[in-house]
Amino acid sequence: MLVSEMNHLSLLLHLIFFIVLNPSVLSTSQDQFVYSGFTGVNLTLDGVATVTPNGLLELTNGTTLLKGHAFHPTPFHFGETSNGTVPSFSVSYVFAIYCAVPVICGHGMAFLVAASNNFSNTMPTQYLGLTNDHNNGKATNHFFAVELDTSQNDEFKDINNNHVGIDINGLNSVNSSKAGYYDDSDGNLHNLTLTSYKMMQVWVEYNRDSTHIDVTLAPLYMAKPIKPILSTTYNLSRVLTDMVYVGFSASTGTIISQQYVLGWSFGVNRPAPTIDITKLPKLPRQGPKPRSKVLEIVLPIGTAAFVIFVGAIVVLFVRRRLRYTELRENWEVEFGPHRFSYKDLVHATKGFKSENLLGAGGFGRVYKGVLQVSKLEIAVKRISHDSKQGMKEFVAEVVSIGRLQHRNLVKLHGYCRRKDSRSSKALHPACSTSMRTGKKLYSIETSSQAMCS
Ligand SMILES: *[C@@H]1O[C@H](CO)[C@@H](O)[C@H](O)[C@H]1NC(C)=O
Ligand SMILES: *[C@@H]1O[C@H](CO)[C@@H](O)[C@H](O)[C@H]1NC(C)=O
Ligand SMILES: *[C@@H]1O[C@H](CO)[C@@H](O)[C@H](O)[C@H]1NC(C)=O
Ligand SMILES: *[C@@H]1O[C@H](CO)[C@@H](O)[C@H](O)[C@H]1NC(C)=O
Ligand SMILES: *[C@@H]1O[C@H](CO)[C@@H](O)[C@H](O)[C@H]1NC(C)=O
Ligand SMILES: *[C@@H]1O[C@H](CO)[C@@H](O)[C@H](O)[C@H]1NC(C)=O
Ligand SMILES: *[C@@H]1O[C@H](CO)[C@@H](O)[C@H](O)[C@H]1NC(C)=O
Repeated sequence: MLVSEMNHLSLLLHLIFFIVLNPSVLSTSQDQFVYSGFTGVNLTLDGVATVTPNGLLELTNGTTLLKGHAFHPTPFHFGETSNGTVPSFSVSYVFAIYCAVPVICGHGMAFLVAASNNFSNTMPTQYLGLTNDHNNGKATNHFFAVELDTSQNDEFKDINNNHVGIDINGLNSVNSSKAGYYDDSDGNLHNLTLTSYKMMQVWVEYNRDSTHIDVTLAPLYMAKPIKPILSTTYNLSRVLTDMVYVGFSASTGTIISQQYVLGWSFGVNRPAPTIDITKLPKLPRQGPKPRSKVLEIVLPIGTAAFVIFVGAIVVLFVRRRLRYTELRENWEVEFGPHRFSYKDLVHATKGFKSENLLGAGGFGRVYKGVLQVSKLEIAVKRISHDSKQGMKEFVAEVVSIGRLQHRNLVKLHGYCRRKDSRSSKALHPACSTSMRTGKKLYSIETSSQAMCS
């Protein structure tokens, strides 16, 4: 076989191994399992419990008065490992509870270890799908559960509507505590709200020799606190049999709550394996959509349009500024009264419109116009900046022409300078008719005049 073919084969084998090893089940064996998400995991589900396409274990589905259960598909044979007594075991799981009406929330959920996985004969609401109104607390139930209870029931002597409880065969907790955790650094108790829809992790540990049960709670991403929130001593060998099922139970009442399990691990005679929290599935977004689809489309377009609009305004403004930019130098101070703003000339001549053109001479075009403020009729000559004389001399000449008084001459009132052209402006005082100087005549038309040079 060629070397390259062998390389292809090994690549193929790698791919196959990758595919086989990749599912959420990172490891399962007789005495432990860990699921970081439940995609492809074979759970035994009943009621409304489902595994969502992205791997969330959804215990109830947002409809009232229903229950759901999810069990590890195979039971654990405790007897084989511990001579007929319940061995030490340890569980950890990541959960989140969503509450449609946060103030008066629906019911919670429970982790359970039970002799049977048939919980069909149970009730929803405050029974959490664990018991019914006839068998609550009976020794024949054979279960141990840790409840995350989000509603207060006097019937079961609940301490509040946000507590953790250890339940044996029924919902009257053996011991319970408000939800929270003890800070490792200062030992202070921090409250947690079970229905906050924030991901939290629970650890439950049973010790065979001491029959001690510890329950610890913490926000996700926090290492397991040293001090448990809740503990008790109870010999589970008096509750459970040789063969047990492990799983979850949850229910809804008249007010909707939804309970999710994102990751789960279990170990017998060993600590529960660590859940890889980086692989946990995403929780669905709950509650009212923060933004409608229409807004999602309209908002970016609107924003873009606004930006373009503002940009266009800025460009127009800058162009306008440039359009009226004038050239002004220190020596012009003495000619101050004769200086006109370019903007005024543009307005007076309607932007040097061709219909305002009086004529074109050797040095430039002459336009008629009306000064906006004084309503004086004027003629404006635009001269381009190609004069060999100095600018100062040119302006001085223009101003001195302005002092000339002649019947046939228009009085020259002033000038204006721009970066690329010279405009001088003449005023037509008495509205003489056409004029002739014998020299150069730039404008011949009634009611309008120009300047001569
Ligand atoms: C929940 O499940 C029940 C029973 O299967 C079904 O009738 C109901 O429509 C479901 N609710 C939602 C919101 O899917
Ligand atoms: C799931 O587990 C059950 C119980 O062990 C078994 O009967 C069933 O065949 C399994 N299903 C799959 C798809 O592996
Ligand atoms: C089970 O009991 C036998 C005899 O009592 C003992 O030798 C053995 O160590 C026990 N096994 C375990 C796992 O405790
Ligand atoms: C579960 O238990 C009920 C009685 O409580 C029984 O009617 C039903 O057949 C059982 N289901 C299974 C799958 O064994
Ligand atoms: C924790 O909750 C209790 C009521 O359960 C309340 O009295 C206490 O003030 C809360 N502590 C903090 C720090 O919020
Ligand atoms: C209940 O739990 C608390 C907190 O862990 C503990 O201090 C107390 O001793 C427990 N009570 C019983 C009866 O186990
Ligand atoms: C727990 O109960 C079982 C069965 O009753 C008994 O054999 C065992 O010694 C008890 N364990 C402890 C630590 O008391």
